[in-house]
Amino acid sequence: MKQKHQKITMITAYNFAEGRVVAATDIDVILVGDSLGMVVLGYDSTLKVTMEDMISHSAAVRRGAPDKYIIVDMPYMSYHLDSRETRLNASRLVRDGEANAVKLEGGYTSRLNAIREIVDMEIPVCAHIGLTPQSVLKFGGFKVQGKSERAHEEIFRQAKAVEEAGAFMLVLEGIPELLGKEISESLHIPTIGIGAGRYCDGQVLVYHDMLGYSTMQAKFVRQYANLNKSIPEAIMDYSREVREGLFPAREHSYYPID
Ligand code: KIV
Repeated sequence: MKQKHQKITMITAYNFAEGRVVAATDIDVILVGDSLGMVVLGYDSTLKVTMEDMISHSAAVRRGAPDKYIIVDMPYMSYHLDSRETRLNASRLVRDGEANAVKLEGGYTSRLNAIREIVDMEIPVCAHIGLTPQSVLKFGGFKVQGKSERAHEEIFRQAKAVEEAGAFMLVLEGIPELLGKEISESLHIPTIGIGAGRYCDGQVLVYHDMLGYSTMQAKFVRQYANLNKSIPEAIMDYSREVREGLFPAREHSYYPID
């Protein structure tokens, strides 16, 4: 698709129902992101998300979307210790989580080694650099990265390095548009942007953010629906109709002969 200049579309999903909804669309790739820790489980970062969380949510998405290409996030601490643990965790995510590929954050030496270890097991790896949410403690918050000349050069270097290490795709998050453009034009592998401007080879958004179903107000999000408004309205309609005796109606009731 990159060679044909066709934009790649990606959206996150976290359970059977969301997988089923996305499966009915023409979205190219589903990401079972560890953002589930924030938008589904209510944590203030992704750091508490476990391997068990990722496996169970990924398998649920797969049940809803049997034919979609699914990438699953390797959670914090699942690829940080040693190569045996990294390999084992990546294999569990594709075997038990039924994903097609895994994603991990970072582009410096230890992460390049992790990419090589996993690719060596014939599991495709999507890399993720820039504003990597698992680095929130180091960054001191969810802050745009690569703004200074030095940081720009470092992120560009990491992009080249993850491609060299064997990643088949690269998520660029929270970086200036021109850096996203420069990286996208320099790499052979596709780049998927989120807050990385208009020139990436594809885009990803978090399901809850783009549907107006989270509290996220970031500049890079466009809301295509307002579920924070329409869902409570529907629930209020239901509760009012029960109180007023309007629901259930005759057509919702069973009779000996229907
Ligand atoms: O966890 C996630 O949803 C992600 C995207 C924001 C790229 O990593």
